[in-house]
Amino acid sequence: MENVMEKLVALCKRRGFVFPSSEIYGGINACWDYGPMGTRLKNNIKTSWMNAMTRLREDVVPLDAAILMHPRVWEASGHLTEFTDPLIDCRHCKTRFRADDLDFDPTLPDAQCPKCGMRGTFTEPRRFNLMFKTFMGPVEDTANVIYIRPETAQGIYVNFDNVRVSARKKLPFGIAQIGKAFRNEITPGNFIFRTREFEQMEMQYFIKPGENAKWFEYWKEQRMNWNLALGIDPQRLRFHDHAPDELAHYARAASDIQFQFGFGTDPWHELEGIHDRGEYDLSHHQEFSGKKLEYFDEASRERYIPNIIETSAGCDRTLLMILIDGYREEEIKGEKRVFLGLHPRIAPLKAAIFPLVKKEGMPEIARRIYEELMQRFDVVYDEGGSIGRRYARMDEVGTPFCLTVDGQTLTDQTVTIRYRDTLEQERCAIDRLRERLGELIAGA
Ligand code: GAP
Repeated sequence: MENVMEKLVALCKRRGFVFPSSEIYGGINACWDYGPMGTRLKNNIKTSWMNAMTRLREDVVPLDAAILMHPRVWEASGHLTEFTDPLIDCRHCKTRFRADDLDFDPTLPDAQCPKCGMRGTFTEPRRFNLMFKTFMGPVEDTANVIYIRPETAQGIYVNFDNVRVSARKKLPFGIAQIGKAFRNEITPGNFIFRTREFEQMEMQYFIKPGENAKWFEYWKEQRMNWNLALGIDPQRLRFHDHAPDELAHYARAASDIQFQFGFGTDPWHELEGIHDRGEYDLSHHQEFSGKKLEYFDEASRERYIPNIIETSAGCDRTLLMILIDGYREEEIKGEKRVFLGLHPRIAPLKAAIFPLVKKEGMPEIARRIYEELMQRFDVVYDEGGSIGRRYARMDEVGTPFCLTVDGQTLTDQTVTIRYRDTLEQERCAIDRLRERLGELIAGA
């Protein structure tokens, strides 16, 4: 598996999915840039999420809140005191660990460093807050400290009443948001799995107290179904329900959807989380802001603080899952073929259009097809190199269909459609291509 990850990192760079950030300066740890293919893939993931969470349902609406928030938000949320990891260092080899990541007790006098093998060299664990700090305004003093949000959720809670009133929503209803979050992680790594800047896709569902178990189960199922609909192998997805000692400070119950990423001693890792947050968030914001965040339930004539079921997914982690799950190598007639078996709905490009050769009017026909199809689909035109190399490039970025203009096109106005996964080919009339491509994507 480490091997697949290495190959994927190289493929991502070669084909323009993900680049190390600031690479010409030697890179910066745990930050990555998305190239043309990665940007398209990420946008498709986000659109799919937003569609499923808001456009295709009446009870959830979107929001786009600011990254910088009032500093009291982080007092109310518990992040200032609770959002910490226990940090220890090996005095001998200087390696830094998260104490809770180790499968032994590092405070024992003869605890052995897994990196250098020395015993008794660990420092005392220290609590380390993961929030990035900066200053607002020109004066760099403690009165002007603000935090760069470590999750998007708080922007939703503080807007609960604004959204409820303006969108005229009654409970139960949800607010969904996609946005950047920042954490000064102690042990980032595994490519884009754990980074210091990442993107979250979070939804907070406001419910009547007492209905928590029902909605928690409902959202677990919804989120699993969304991941499966991305075309992920069902054998590589599972739930992991948190034991009481694993729960985050805000959660009454939590379940992770885990994907078999494959790295590390245990190949299963958290992909996203579903949390029953009870009344924690709104009651704390009510207390710290002094603004009432209660809800008047007209049906039952009761007034209460809504409870919250949260679904919290990482966009970068979802993208990594899609790449790992889609990575394929096969041998055909002694030749190795690498391709990404991405679901056509989320593939960065839906089709590539090629002239077989750069003569006999084929490029002109191919370009006309390209210009017609680009009105509706993400497509690319390519006339550079042999047809085999052009297919190989498209296989590596997961393009499900390649359309080739060849000699026969000149006589009967048809092109070949080559299927990425099966390598089968069919002929299709040029004037039916737009419709046919739509059918192939929808039917996949
Ligand atoms: N609002 C709740 C919350 O933020 P979390 O479990 O800390 O919960 C939710 O984060 C999701 O965000 C994770 O399941 C993961 O997909 C993503 N995530 C968290 N930290 C990340 C990091 N450092 N790098 C990439 N993704 C991260």
